[in-house]
Amino acid sequence: MTALLTVERINSGYGDIPVLTDVSLTVDRGEIVAVVGANGAGKTTLLRTIAGLLPCRGGAVSFDGREIKNLSAHDVVVRGLVMVPEGGRLFPFMTVLENLELGAFNASARPALQRSLNDVFALFPILAERRRQLAGSLSGGERQMCAIARAIMAQPKLLMLDEPSLGLSPLMVERVFDLVPVLVREKDLTVLIVEQNVGDVLSMAARGYVIERGQVTRSGSGQALLTDPEVQRAYLGI
Ligand SMILES: Nc1ncnc2c1ncn2[C@@H]1O[C@H](COP(=O)(O)OP(=O)(O)OP(=O)(O)O)[C@@H](O)[C@H]1O
Ligand SMILES: [Mg+2]
Repeated sequence: MTALLTVERINSGYGDIPVLTDVSLTVDRGEIVAVVGANGAGKTTLLRTIAGLLPCRGGAVSFDGREIKNLSAHDVVVRGLVMVPEGGRLFPFMTVLENLELGAFNASARPALQRSLNDVFALFPILAERRRQLAGSLSGGERQMCAIARAIMAQPKLLMLDEPSLGLSPLMVERVFDLVPVLVREKDLTVLIVEQNVGDVLSMAARGYVIERGQVTRSGSGQALLTDPEVQRAYLGI
């Protein structure tokens, strides 16, 4: 397998405050890879740095065979690396349809807008039903679906999901987790997913990385991490 995303020893933070120290990871094509860790460990910072939303000091980030470290967030999206931020960040006073259309705003995705819309409505029939509704009035689960659908409108190769299960009921969490492998299969996607729901995400992911205080402290197959006594003690309450 060839790596779609390679992150090599990156450092990042906010102003003078360092958060990530020498973080490395890879995501192969067609893989689901999980990043887990406690609150404040640096998971969101990692995704935002990869997405070009935060400057990256040192190291290298390559995507689809090209260096992307110094690209703008917009150019990263155009290359096919799209993030669904924590909480979805929809535009609440715009309709579902308008939010989805904005997902296809970039020049590479725009020509396929109608086809992409049909695709996401087939994947998420609830969004087709609610297309005229303001995004701010969706339920938490519907909002997360809409945020994922909006990202798919941008025609990603790699989808980065930041805690998609946050704030959802157990039933909705299950639906979101069921959806990820379907997206990988049907949309030919690769997924890097950050989660606090450690047991569920490691069961789904091929591989995972544990981040503690801005550093990768463990990595391995989802199964290996699930049975790792340290991971069980720290994150699974076993
Ligand atoms: N805009 C910011 N300015 C300064 N410090 C920040 C900023 N955003 C995050 N931090 C700090 O960076 C560290 C890592 O935060 P980050 O949001 O990456 O954690 P996380 O692993 O995503 O946590 P959570 O699971 O709670 O979402 C924290 O100490 C946090 O306080
Ligand atoms: Mg976070």
